[in-house]
Amino acid sequence: MSKIDSVKKNIEAGKKLVKDIESLEKIRLQFLGKKGQITDLMKGLGELNPEERKSHAEELNNIKNDLNNFISLKSETFDDEELSKQLSSEKLDLTLVSQITEGRIHPITQVIDEVIAIFADLDFCIAEGPEVETDYNNFTALNTSENHPARQMHDTFYVNSKTDEMPNVLRTHTSPVQIRSMLKGKPPFRLIAPGKTFRCDNDQTHTPMFHQVEGLVIDKNSNMGHLKGCLETFLREFFETSSPKMRFRPSHFPFTEPSAEVDIGYKKDGNQIIIGEGDSWLEILGCGMVHPNVLKNVNIDPNEYQGYAFGVGIERLAMLKYGISDLRTFYDNDLRWLKHFGFVPLDIPSISGGLSR
Ligand code: PHE
Repeated sequence: MSKIDSVKKNIEAGKKLVKDIESLEKIRLQFLGKKGQITDLMKGLGELNPEERKSHAEELNNIKNDLNNFISLKSETFDDEELSKQLSSEKLDLTLVSQITEGRIHPITQVIDEVIAIFADLDFCIAEGPEVETDYNNFTALNTSENHPARQMHDTFYVNSKTDEMPNVLRTHTSPVQIRSMLKGKPPFRLIAPGKTFRCDNDQTHTPMFHQVEGLVIDKNSNMGHLKGCLETFLREFFETSSPKMRFRPSHFPFTEPSAEVDIGYKKDGNQIIIGEGDSWLEILGCGMVHPNVLKNVNIDPNEYQGYAFGVGIERLAMLKYGISDLRTFYDNDLRWLKHFGFVPLDIPSISGGLSR
């Protein structure tokens, strides 16, 4: 048997012994390593006469290529096997609630989820808008002209815009989502828009970033009575009391006429806050009938359509419901606070299952 034939035989025998990455590497070294059997024969080619050299070289190259193919195929299979072994041994069952012992849902997230659950049950859908807004959507389209005093009242954060025109703003309220939603669709509308809002204000009762949920209902006959009924239902569900004490105060917003602010009654009993009783009032929302000019700005005929809007402060709701007395603690990122006031994940609020449990 020629040397080449006996190497071929050795290779076939060697292949049969390959069962893992290590034995594969062994056969590679045995034939293709520095002192491997194929390498040896290659080195010996120089001693042959030109004709033999050519045919032997060709044959050796074929053997070498075959072996290389075998090695790369096998190593892919072994890699796959290794990976699936690893994946199955490191499997984590995320549906096992008991594994989640540390994380907590922030009260703001919880309250937003509760508000969504209530309004979803009242047939509202959810709308969204960006936190960086155009000056037009945040003010002008909402019937707030350029020198309107409400622009100062809002302590706006301005953001550079790409064009030289009006600067963009960090939205000072969620009301611009009214504009975006009405421009995108056709009436009737029945939506809420929860999200972050920003005003340049920082003291015991104000943080520069806070949350609101906007509400908008536009159809042919919704009136102030419907608005009152809607908000009463919401507050009753949210505070889980049969008839929370509330009052409507006449107010002014450029984008609603008439406008009102709603306060909710509460009293303090030691460290406890009792909602819906007592003589203390906390303002929690602004509301009113959508101004005809706003409807005109989004191409809706105010002679045909009308409706109401409201904007609720989420932090205020959370403070009252969960007895959190200092607004600033919401954003201190103190884990002890979060452990105390936070909620267990997967305890998702629902009307039927209970909102806050
Ligand atoms: N956008 C108002 C605010 O932030 C609240 C509001 C919303 C009032 C909708 C009326 C209607 O104060």
